[in-house]
Amino acid sequence: MTFCEYRPGLEGVPVTQSSISFVDGKNGILEYRGINIEELARLSTFVETAYLLIWGALPTADELEEFQHEIQSHRRLKYRIRDMMKCFPESGHPMDALQACAAALGLFYSRRALDDPTYIRAAVVRLMAKIPTMVAAFQLMRKGNDPVQPRDDLSYAANFLYMLNEREPDPLAAQIFDICLTLHAEHTINASTFSSMVTASTLTDPYGVVASAVGTLAGPLHGGANEEVIMMLEEIGTVENVEPYLDNCLEKKSKIMGFGHRVYKVKDPRATILQSLAEQLFEKFGRDEYYDIAVAMEKAVAERLGHKGIYPNVDFYSGLVYRKLGIPTDLFTPVFAIARTSGWLAHWKEQLNENRIFRPTQIYTGNHAQSYIPIEKRQSSQDESCWS
Ligand code: CMC
Repeated sequence: MTFCEYRPGLEGVPVTQSSISFVDGKNGILEYRGINIEELARLSTFVETAYLLIWGALPTADELEEFQHEIQSHRRLKYRIRDMMKCFPESGHPMDALQACAAALGLFYSRRALDDPTYIRAAVVRLMAKIPTMVAAFQLMRKGNDPVQPRDDLSYAANFLYMLNEREPDPLAAQIFDICLTLHAEHTINASTFSSMVTASTLTDPYGVVASAVGTLAGPLHGGANEEVIMMLEEIGTVENVEPYLDNCLEKKSKIMGFGHRVYKVKDPRATILQSLAEQLFEKFGRDEYYDIAVAMEKAVAERLGHKGIYPNVDFYSGLVYRKLGIPTDLFTPVFAIARTSGWLAHWKEQLNENRIFRPTQIYTGNHAQSYIPIEKRQSSQDESCWS
């Protein structure tokens, strides 16, 4: 087979066969294992959805209880991981801390038995259990406080908010956070999932797989956009400033954060659900000062860029929900990682089932048959400004 056309960003190029999730970008449909995301957001829980993604079918009551129990029993961190975290600079980004911690788990659980279902199950449980604890622990430790121990009587979502804010969350807040996790759990072959698959295809350990995906998620064109959206709303400051801000972006050809998607050409269905979750929270706990700016921004962008299919993506309204839940802005992307760990693990398992190492090709644009030039005869090819 020959496939010689170069597609920047691999747009439209299938890189795998998968039965985990499906996106119809024209009609704004997202399904996990064939179940519509709206239905899962309404009826499921994050842990149940994670089970569905990773093991391929909704669990029975006993299977769900067992999975929940296993996760609960593995939520604590080894004291050496906590000691390692104490050495992290407080000013470091929590995504970098999370990537380091996820990779460090590989040091403690070094046995690699990718054909052993018990090993696979233990790795899934450990990663799902410990990633939220690591995110919350870093938040408390950078403020100079001891991490809060997880509580077994709380759900996955409620326990994370409890470890983060050091108090039991309001039930509505916990329920809404759980839905946010479900919405972010999986999304076909996005950049971080592709990264996890490439890493998995080398048959390395699952901690390395998740660490590489965390590093990929961190960028502002991917998961990091949720943080940038809040910075953008802060900068805009008032509803009246929306149009001039947009004019400026369009003139400079800069991207508007939280808008646009490689696959969706309509509003992302997750953005619609997140917007309604934000409104539910505002009704109970008060309106966010940036909400009106966000709504005005959505309208203005649709008028100017709707013809190109540029509408809000998942990252546009999520930050407004997280702010109301008391989550600091630079933890928005780590929270995305907590949820997406389940999708990465589902793809890791799927990759192992029919593995072939990823080894694409390139279209070489360099020279051939060049001579080696002795050092005293070389002229610098560096632009001097690089070094000034
Ligand atoms: N603001 C303004 N114009 C945009 C935007 C945007 N946010 N997104 C795309 N466009 C325009 C782009 O300028 C281009 O126009 P033209 O054809 O006239 O040159 C056209 O739409 C196609 O854009 P592209 O950059 O080729 O699209 P892509 O599929 O390579 O990039 C994207 C997708 C999500 C990286 C991009 O839309 C973007 O940078 N958005 C802002 C960052 C963001 O919100 N990222 C979160 C993505 S969704 C969740 C996630 O992955 O975490």
